[in-house]
Amino acid sequence: MQVIIVENKKQVAEKAFEIIKDTIQSKANPVLGLATGSTPIELYQRMIQANEAKEVSFKDVSSYNLDEYVGLNKDHPQSYAYFMRENLFNHIDINQENTHLPQGDVADLQAECDRYDSLVKSMPADIQVLGIGSNGHIAFNEPGSSFESTTHIIKLTKQTREDNARFFDKAEDVPTHAITMGIATILVAKKIILMATSTSKADAIQQMIEGNVDTDCPATVLQNHPDVIVIVDKEAASKLG
Ligand code: GLP
Repeated sequence: MQVIIVENKKQVAEKAFEIIKDTIQSKANPVLGLATGSTPIELYQRMIQANEAKEVSFKDVSSYNLDEYVGLNKDHPQSYAYFMRENLFNHIDINQENTHLPQGDVADLQAECDRYDSLVKSMPADIQVLGIGSNGHIAFNEPGSSFESTTHIIKLTKQTREDNARFFDKAEDVPTHAITMGIATILVAKKIILMATSTSKADAIQQMIEGNVDTDCPATVLQNHPDVIVIVDKEAASKLG
């Protein structure tokens, strides 16, 4: 695991952008694994800016996202599909047919998990972007999730629902379940960049880097992946020894 500590959120985004840009420019048909949440927003703004400046093109890029809320359709403003269109896809030259998210509003959720898992494994990401939950979750793999897990339905913890309530009008509107790429599915990526900012992530970052590999902190599994770059600001790094 390579750990890069920078001053602030802007520099976290810039570092991540440089790595993504290098990959996009060195592959004919790059595949990006993308994440939602507040953390990658500045990275996505940087990608949009670079695309507008013709510094980088996404026209040959395909993408898949980590997760989606169960019960929200792709046009619901709090769905991750909507988030991705608003924060990235609508503003860059990517072919939206090549962007993939799990669908949270289908009748047969198990079939959707299986479909999505096969899709991801058929096109392993050249780079997977990850954030981290304050409880150490990656995607929506909450503490206790098996490291062998494939795409599955998960019941969100109280803490995750509270953390994510800021995006919803009322706390009770936060869905109770999500469809998430499993930990084994995430690890198929060739390279992983995990970004974290602010003191609210300091404990999770300390545990992920210095703790034992244990399902209590799902992000510790990244210690077993051969190519992980952790990019954190000083606050998120504040508890590292
Ligand atoms: C959600 C997402 C995760 C994300 C996490 C942290 O739970 N499923 O993929 O990493 O939130 O979000 P934020 O970046 O807003 O702190």
